[in-house]
Parts: sequence; C-alpha cells; structure tokens
Amino acid sequence: TAGNLPESSCKPLSGLKDAIGGDNVKVIVADDYEIMSREAAKIVAAEIRKKPDSVFALPTGGTPLGLYAGLIRMHKEEGLDFSRVSTFNLDEYIGLPDGHESSYSFYMYDRFFNHVNVSRDKIHIPRGLAKDPEEEAATYEWAIKRAGGIDFAVLGIGRNGHIGFNEPKTEFGSLTRPIYLAKRTIEANARFFDGDPDSVPRQAISMGIRTIMNARKVILLASGPEKSRAINQTIHGPVTEMVPSSVLQLHPDCTFFLGRDAA
Ligand code: GLP
Repeated sequence: TAGNLPESSCKPLSGLKDAIGGDNVKVIVADDYEIMSREAAKIVAAEIRKKPDSVFALPTGGTPLGLYAGLIRMHKEEGLDFSRVSTFNLDEYIGLPDGHESSYSFYMYDRFFNHVNVSRDKIHIPRGLAKDPEEEAATYEWAIKRAGGIDFAVLGIGRNGHIGFNEPKTEFGSLTRPIYLAKRTIEANARFFDGDPDSVPRQAISMGIRTIMNARKVILLASGPEKSRAINQTIHGPVTEMVPSSVLQLHPDCTFFLGRDAA
C-alpha cells in the first residue's frame, strides 16, 4: 500500500522492483543503491535531451554521489551535453572559508562540475561568505526567477525529513533564506567534518519549501535504513510542517527513487 497514493495505479516497471504511482506522485523502489542511482541518472539525462537549457536544482550529501558519477559517465561515453544547462544548488553552509573541503561548493566542483561541460556562468550556489546572508538569499531567489524557474529539482532527504536545509517546522511558504541547522542534522553531517559536530556550521542558506515546490518536476533520492522512517512519514504520513518532505505529496510531478533499505 502507499498511504495517500491510489493503489489502483500501481504498476511494475521493468528492471526495478516496484513502482507505485498516483497521478502526481510515483514511488520507485530499486534493489540497491547502484540501480537507484542509475535510474535517477537516466531521468535527469532524458530531461536534458528533451530540454537542453533545463534549469536544475541540485543536492549534496552522500546520496546523490552515484547519480553524479552516472551523469559524468554519460557525458564521457555518450556525449551528454550540459553546456546549456543551468544549476542552482539547494543550499550552502554559512561561514566556511573559501575552498573549504566540506563546503557544498567544493563538493559540487569536485564531484560533478569539474567533470562535465556545465558552463561556469550557469552554475549557482549560495555564497556562504556573503556579508549579508539575507540579501544573498533574496538575490538567489530572484536569480532562479530570472532563469525562468526550476524545471527539475533533485532532492535528497535528511533523517528528520528535511529537504535542502528546510528543517521541521519550516513554513511551507518559505523562500530562499538563512536558516539554523537542527541538532540532529549537525550530528548527521558531522561525518563530513572529521566526525566533529562542533566543526559543523550552525547556519546555512537554503532554498525554501515554496522555492522547491515551484519546480516543475521533482525527484527525491533516498537510500539506507536510516532514511526509512523519514520516507515512511513522507509518503504515508499527513502533510505537515513537522516533516518538511511530506509537502511533496502535493507536488504535481514528483518521483521518489528509493533503495529497498530506505523503502
Ligand atoms: C544535507 C543536505 C540535504 C541532503 C541531506 C542528506 O543536510 N542539506 O540536501 O539531502 O544532507 O544527506 P545524505 O545524502 O548524506 O544523507
């Protein structure tokens, strides 16, 4: 069963374990992380082929690494062309020194941008060192609008259901803005800071829930048993600001790509 999703529209998808879909929300369960990443990469590639100047929202974290690796492979082997694509990262820590290896900016160039032909002037990441983070956030939101809005948002999910850095209790109407990280997020992300929670910045600039919901298409990737509770609440639970990702039940075109362990 799939909570609020109509069971009648459940249908199997070749090569994948299950696909459960309502009109607006689809849940695809892959046997393992590699299959999940590969299938997600195919969907992203299809979007780029259909609309070469697509505007993407992009995530960081451990989960999308397989997706980025798949896209790099498709660029090198199949000539997947990123030259007209625009990207907007979901979030960035506030206050990390330029080039810090745990910054999302470093991550994106290291793991993805340096290996594909995305045009440098079409890459957008909130500047965590901006003098005025409020102004930086407002400018970022405006830049998304100016680019024509986000065509395709790729999301991960935090253990508490956060998307981007929109922690529980974030208003669904929120736009890009500076936020404070939840204690649980600081603890979970300490693994990217030599295991030291005290080194994790307390603040970040994040797209808001409304910014994400304005995207024309959304996919969310999750793998690992530590995500299963959040996924359960996201798909089966009530739509509530206590579980920010639950808002995606209301999105007109959202697909969850789940590893079996997260599902
Ligand atoms: C961070 C990011 C999120 C990401 C989440 C999950 O907090 N701000 O965008 O989805 O981590 O990360 P991981 O995939 O490493 O579990």
